[in-house]
Amino acid sequence: MRPKYHFTATQNWLNDPNGLCFLDGEYHLFFQHNPQGNTPGNIGWGHAVSADLLHWTELEMALPFDGNVMAFSGSVVIDHDNSSGFGANAMVAIYTAHHIQKPLQTQHLAYSNDRGRTWNQYAGNPVLDIQKADFRDPKVFWHTPTQRWVMVLALPDERQVQFYGASNLKNWTLLSTFGPAGQTGGIWEVPDLFELPFEGTSKWVLKVDIGTGAQFGGSGGQCFVGHFDGLAFHAENNAWLDYGKDFYAALSFSNTERPIWLAWMNNWQYAQATPTTPWRGCMSLPRVLGLRRNSTGIVLTQNPIAELEQLRQKTHEVSPSRLEQHSLCLPLGADYFELWLECDLGAAQSLCVRLEGKNGLSEIGYDSLRQELYLDRRQSGQVTFHSEFAGRHFAQLELVEPKLRLRLFFDACTLEVFAQDGEVVLSDLIFPDSKIEAIVLQSTGVVQLEKLMVWT
Ligand code: FRU
Repeated sequence: MRPKYHFTATQNWLNDPNGLCFLDGEYHLFFQHNPQGNTPGNIGWGHAVSADLLHWTELEMALPFDGNVMAFSGSVVIDHDNSSGFGANAMVAIYTAHHIQKPLQTQHLAYSNDRGRTWNQYAGNPVLDIQKADFRDPKVFWHTPTQRWVMVLALPDERQVQFYGASNLKNWTLLSTFGPAGQTGGIWEVPDLFELPFEGTSKWVLKVDIGTGAQFGGSGGQCFVGHFDGLAFHAENNAWLDYGKDFYAALSFSNTERPIWLAWMNNWQYAQATPTTPWRGCMSLPRVLGLRRNSTGIVLTQNPIAELEQLRQKTHEVSPSRLEQHSLCLPLGADYFELWLECDLGAAQSLCVRLEGKNGLSEIGYDSLRQELYLDRRQSGQVTFHSEFAGRHFAQLELVEPKLRLRLFFDACTLEVFAQDGEVVLSDLIFPDSKIEAIVLQSTGVVQLEKLMVWT
């Protein structure tokens, strides 16, 4: 079940990505980790590094549980100008200290002067304490127009996020509060805020996760597109991030030229029951972010990083053809692959791609009548480990022309579907009982297949 090109910890429990950043040719991935067991507990920051976002080396834990305080989620910035006094180009981690002896969460700093290999706690911790039991997940970035650091973090129970500003990462003042807004059916966690280019100018994206009450149950992520004026965020729209069930706590990288993020591929509803050992939990693919205008408004686009193409091995290509009622079968026998499909649905009612194992199958398809892209994992293999796991997840998608473009990545237990160049994404775990023996395409009506490539 262990993915080959998605990050997993060597052993034991993993949840949110933390402190994603780039420094001196290395990407850093920190993660919520229990070094002692396969369920949450003793939480601190695990650590891994990579030169290409694909091959990761796990290092020692960066911020371990110290007996009193668990290091909950947070971010890392590179302090180029030594604003904090921790040293030029210090890596500074801003994280939530979860106090186990009292109901309190405060924000702490730790820093490293040796590319994240060793960490020092700031002697003046906490840097932010509003005496709340739930107040967490600081994401910090440098805001150029106001020349200061901005922190966004969650007030989970209030369904709010707050923005704070500081010139030195230490003395934070409240700038504003946003919410409740959008999806409020569960507590708010793990916010992120970043600017993306859009039609010659830019817009800001505020991402906030909800702990329960997502569209298909359990936890999930939403985003607001709008404007951040240095003090407050003004939302223009609200949408889900991902229409699968397993994309949570997404976090963007600091100090990269491209806007990239990745998330924990899981759902709090059943995360502790997924059938893997001696590890549990994996990250999504790193995705490049963008904004695009379509018939529904301005949408966040997510596309897999181009580096993934380096991993392609054997190519299977099907020449353009007409699909009509019957199915097309591509024998495969693979635990890992990428699929690229482009087709013209014409007046066809549906098209589906079935990933068939020995005893089960997962189905990804488009239903023209409902204008729906879906992923059905009800028969995908091991599904009974939790009553809420089996299901069919879908996104509204209006096709133009009507052409469908799909890129699909399968990696042992992960499925990520990117449609229409990243306008709609569905990420789901599956636990097949065997390799994917064949990819089968089936249509209701005539579909013109323009491209079908599969790379193991
Ligand atoms: C989100 C979350 C965060 C918290 C962390 C604890 O999945 O609940 O809010 O900081 O996980 O591991």
